[in-house]
This record gives sequence, structure tokens and C-alpha cells, in this order.
Amino acid sequence: MQFIGIDFGTSNSLASLAVNDKIEFVRFPDGNISNPTIIYFPAQSRQYYVGNEGVHRYLTHLEESGIGGRLMLSIKTLLPEAKFDYTLVAGHGRLTVEDLVSKFLSLLKKLAEKQFARQFDGVILGRPVEFTELAVSRLEKAAHIAGFKRVVFWLEPVAAALAYEATASRDELICVVDIGGGTSDVCVIETSASRSPSPDRLDDIKAVGGVYQAGDELSAQMMKHQLAPRFGAGSTFKSLSKTLPFPTHLIYKLSKWHRINLLNNASDKETIQSIYPSSDRPDDVKRLLDLIKHHYGFELFQAIDAAKKHLSGSERATVTFRPLDLREEITIKEFESIIGETARAIEKSIYDTLHAASVKPSAIKRVLLTGGTSQVPLLSRSVTKIFGAEKILRPDFFSSVASGLGYAAARLK
Ligand SMILES: Nc1ncnc2c1ncn2[C@@H]1O[C@H](COP(=O)(O)OP(=O)(O)OP(=O)(O)O)[C@@H](O)[C@H]1O
Ligand SMILES: [Mg+2]
Repeated sequence: MQFIGIDFGTSNSLASLAVNDKIEFVRFPDGNISNPTIIYFPAQSRQYYVGNEGVHRYLTHLEESGIGGRLMLSIKTLLPEAKFDYTLVAGHGRLTVEDLVSKFLSLLKKLAEKQFARQFDGVILGRPVEFTELAVSRLEKAAHIAGFKRVVFWLEPVAAALAYEATASRDELICVVDIGGGTSDVCVIETSASRSPSPDRLDDIKAVGGVYQAGDELSAQMMKHQLAPRFGAGSTFKSLSKTLPFPTHLIYKLSKWHRINLLNNASDKETIQSIYPSSDRPDDVKRLLDLIKHHYGFELFQAIDAAKKHLSGSERATVTFRPLDLREEITIKEFESIIGETARAIEKSIYDTLHAASVKPSAIKRVLLTGGTSQVPLLSRSVTKIFGAEKILRPDFFSSVASGLGYAAARLK
């Protein structure tokens, strides 16, 4: 049976296979080896679109008709959510999380089969360390729906270690820190060129750990602490001659982009509209009304993401979103104070994993620091502080997990 490796990420997904010991990535229709893990269901249609094509069509439909259909991001974070049974999508009926994930996996299967000119009946899927049983079983079911007959899981940081090992000649105790979109994953593992081909490496894994917090959480914190006032948070309004604070439940829905859609109901809209005339900051309340009316949630979060990324190489950044007349500057100092709690949680998960492996940082010979969010200076400083700068290796931020899965897929028959 032929296997393909798939890194189904919260933000980005990739598929790969080692051919003659060299990794080849599956190319998406746009020519990239990675695409955002996004599915778009246009309104009044039975079609759906995945990745960059989905984003492109969503934005085009919004611009042309003002109606954008359903855009779904961070689908991976739905896998552990026990309360999420299904979502009703016009033209598609009830879609469970397995259905949603399988749409993405089946596209990767199809693209891989075309590119490698062979059938893939098996898949090696990455999974975060912190992932509930429910999440794993749903991911497995999604792979079956996509047409894979056999599904094998590898822990994501272990896969990244395997990719490193394929190029290293010495046996070493290493620590992998993978800070992605939805989760931060840590693993202490003994890498070995000679044991590398073995399918079972359990003995070499000394400890694994992690937290359900990474890049998405940083963006949510930026929204909550830095931008929410531009949408009414902290303002007041008058009701029956009393001065009242802007309702916090409305602000709560603002912090994650997909929750913004939840504000698009008659009751919330009526509340906001009634606040507007007597608000001490009517411009900000009007901005919130426009955000809901024009379905700008996704684009607003894209602007936040862009500013967040800019702060990885700059002292300051501006969240700019012209349709809402928004220009909000944020300094690196403000950003670091906003994300302090998440940074501490990630740091703790590293110490906890070292503790579980019964090793001190000094015993670790090399640290693989990977994942898109590992570029955040506060987070990379924190890893450097624990281990020392000389030990830190920076493999490709976005493809190291997929590379490891591609090696594993080639070895499993
Ligand atoms: N230059 C940058 N600075 C800060 N954050 C960044 C940068 N580039 C990308 N990111 C963030 O990295 C995250 C995506 O990283 P990655 O592709 O490793 O995640 P993922 O593998 O999809 O998620 P997970 O492994 O958690 O399922 C996003 O939150 C994105 O905003
Ligand atoms: Mg990842």
C-alpha cells in the first residue's frame, strides 16, 4: 500500500512524499506547496472551493454582489469541540467536522495522485500532542471519508524531528518546539541516523507536551485588547437617563473572526443600533455596525494578521483597514504585553516537557524551533533564554512537519 504524508494544519496544510530519499511536496493548483486550510461554500450553490482559490472566490463574490457565502477557517480547532455536531450549509445540508476536514484531505489525495501518478490508499497524518481522543477519531474518520483505507498518526513535533534526522549524521538528544496557528507542540527525542528507517520510534521519544495556544490566539488578543475600542469597547451610552457601559457580550463575539458573524442577528443588531444615537463614541459604534453589515470580519482579521507578522521584524505596525476607516498603530512593547500570558503558557509547556523527560535544558544538544508563530520575537527569545542561542536551529517554518511525514510515508509499505 502506498502512503502519502499530510500535515493538516490549523492555518496551512501540505502533503509530501520522499522519493529516492528526497522530499517532494504536492503542489496546489496555484503552484504553491502550501495553502491556507480554508473552505468556501458560495451562497446558493452546491460547489465548494478550498485553499487560496476559496479565499479568492469569497472576496470576489463579496465585492461583486455583497454576498459572500460561508468561509470556514481554522477547521482543525473544531475537531476537539464536543459541542460541535454539524453546521448547516446552504446547498450542502448538515456538514459534520469530519465532512469539512475530508473535503480538504480528499483534495490533497487527488492532487497527490495526479502529481505522483499513483494511487494513495494510506495516509500518515500529523496530529498535535495535545489533542483529545475525540479529535483524533474525527480526524481518522475524515481521512476514511476522503478515501484513505489506512490511517497512521504521527505526533507533529516527532515528524519535524524525523525531517531533521534525515539530514543529520550524529545521534543526539534534541527538543522540537513547533509554534503554529492553533497549537504549540514540544517533544524531546533521541534522533539517530541508524534507527531512522525503523517504523517504531517510541523508545526514542522521551517526552511530549504542548498547549492549545499559538498564532490564532495572538491575533485574538490583539483584537480584544488593541482594536476592540475602535468597535465600541469601553464606550458608554445613555438609557433612561442612566449612563451604561457598552455590552461586553458583544465585544466577546468580536475577538474571533468567525464569531463576528454571530453578531449578524436581529437582536444584537437592534441593540447596537439603539446604542448608537446616545453613545459617547458614535463613530466607533458605527464602525461595528458597518463591520457586521458588510461581512468584513475575515478581511479585518487578515489585516490584524498582517500587522502581527510585521511586528516580527519591526518596532511598530499599523492595522489598516480602509473600508472601515481603521488605522490603529501598535508597538512591539504593547504587543508583547498583550501576548504575555500566551508566551508564559508556551514557556511552561517547554519546561514541563523537559521535566517529564527528566532532562535539564543543558542536556539538550539541539533545538528545532519551527512553526509560523515561532517567528514572534518574544517567543523565540523565550526559547533562546531556556536553551542558549548556539543550540537553536531554524528549519523551514512551515514545512518541517510535512517533510517528516513525507519520509515516514515513504518508509511505510
Ligand atoms: N512572520 C510571522 N510572525 C508572526 N506570526 C506569523 C508569521 N508568519 C506566520 N505567522 C503565524 O503562524 C501561524 C501559522 O503557522 P503554521 O503554518 O506553522 O501553523 P499550522 O501548522 O497551520 O498550525 P498548527 O500546527 O497549530 O495546526 C499563523 O497564526 C500565522 O499568523
Ligand atoms: Mg503545524
